[in-house]
Order: sequence, then C-alpha cells, then structure tokens
Amino acid sequence: MQYKRILLKLSGESLMGDLQYGIDPKRLKEYAQEIKQVIAKNIEIAIVIGGGNIFRGVAGASQGMDRVQGDHMGMLATCINGLALQSALEAEGIHTRLQTAIEIKEIAEPYIKRRANRHLEKGRVVIFGGGTGNPYFTTDTAAVLRAIEVNADAILKGTRVDGIYNVDPEKDKNAIKYESISFKDVIRKGLKVMDMTAFTLSEENKLPIIVFDMNKKGNLLKLVSGDQIGTIVDN
Ligand code: GTP
Repeated sequence: MQYKRILLKLSGESLMGDLQYGIDPKRLKEYAQEIKQVIAKNIEIAIVIGGGNIFRGVAGASQGMDRVQGDHMGMLATCINGLALQSALEAEGIHTRLQTAIEIKEIAEPYIKRRANRHLEKGRVVIFGGGTGNPYFTTDTAAVLRAIEVNADAILKGTRVDGIYNVDPEKDKNAIKYESISFKDVIRKGLKVMDMTAFTLSEENKLPIIVFDMNKKGNLLKLVSGDQIGTIVDN
C-alpha cells in the first residue's frame, strides 16, 4: 500500500449525486462502499466533507447575507453531511467517529486531536465536521489543517474530474492532464486546485495533494494501492 493514513476530502456537492440539492442516498452508499474497500486494507482514513449541497457561506454573502452568519450556516451543513456519511458508513459495518470543530456535544464529539489519532489507530473512520470552526475558511483549508494535525500521508481530494488539467477539461476537450505537478508550477500556471489558504498550508507542510475522480468505482482503492490515478501535487 502506498499510504498508511489518508485524509479524504469530499465536496458537499458530490453527495447530491443526481439530485439538484441535498443528499442522494445512492451516492452516499457508493462512497461508503469505496471507503470500506480501503479500510479492509488497514488504511486509516480521516474525512473532511464540504457543505455546498446544503449551504455555501460565500453564496449567501453574495446575496446580501452577513458573511460570518453564512459561514456558520455552512459549518452546520458540513455537520449534517458528516452525520449522513457516518450513518452510511456504519450501515456498511465500518466503525466511525464524528468530531466537530464547533461544539454540538449531543450530536458529535468535539474535535480533540489526540483523540482523533487514537480513533484512527484503532481503525475507525474519523469524520471532521464544522470546517475549521472559523468563518472565512473553506473546508479545503479544514482538510489540509486536519491532515497535518493527524499526520496523514496525503490529502486525497475526490472530485468529479480525474485530475488537474492545463485548462478546464469541462470547457476544452483538448485539455491535457498532469500526472504530477509541483506546488510551484500550480501557482505559476494559475491552476485551481484548492483556494490559496489551503494550498499554501499544504505546501508549507509538505503535504501532497492528490486530485482524483471519486465517482469512478474502485478509484480510491487503486489510488491508495499506488496506481497512477489522478494528479499528485508534491514538492
Ligand atoms: P475509546 O476510548 O478508544 O474506546 O473510544 P470511544 O470513542 O469508543 O470512547 P468513548 O467512551 O469516549 O465514546 C463512546 C461513544 O460515545 C462513541 O460513539 C463516541 O463517538 C461517543 N461520544 C464520545 N464523546 C462524545 C461527545 O462529546 N458527544 C457525543 N455526541 N458523543 C460522544
């Protein structure tokens, strides 16, 4: 296996599946099954999930809502997604713990780094909800932060495209995919992998980012097994 401990970043939108809004149970189940295959290989998995399928703080702000208020709503949205994912994983027989950056103790454990590490050592999937717990930070930043805190070997960013391209592959069919690219080249070429806060945090801490297609069956397992899947951003 290529990795021992990974942080999987999922977007909230990906949970919509074929729906226009909210959570598609079919998609949730598919993701849970993908994760189960990886757990079976004794790989430790932490997950950060976005909330954009329910609410995006930035979108709220663009329509006149107070940004901080909107971001708080977004944080709650990630907790809702975390609960849904927890439930789907447990239905597959996977042990999980949900830890949140904002305290909602009746619903989930508060985020405690040492405890998260113990859960991971015991083979539990740890889902981190509530982003970083601060407004103005994205869940990509939360993913990088938590990955560094729990010493993950890499951050696996599951998307609907299968890697990083020189131009947007959804707009240009001649787009060329990179197998690997350095942090510096991503910045120099102006490619969009994560927002700058998340990206530079990853670079400074030498945490590789792998962008891959999470919707393709078996991809997650192939990736952690060392197959060339997606694009790796590394030093
Ligand atoms: P070990 O100590 O390694 O056995 O971990 P554990 O998570 O099983 O221990 P603990 O006894 O702390 O937790 C038992 C259950 O209660 C787990 O499902 C936890 O997720 C849950 N739990 C623990 N703390 C909290 C909390 O603050 N809020 C909520 N809602 N659940 C909690």
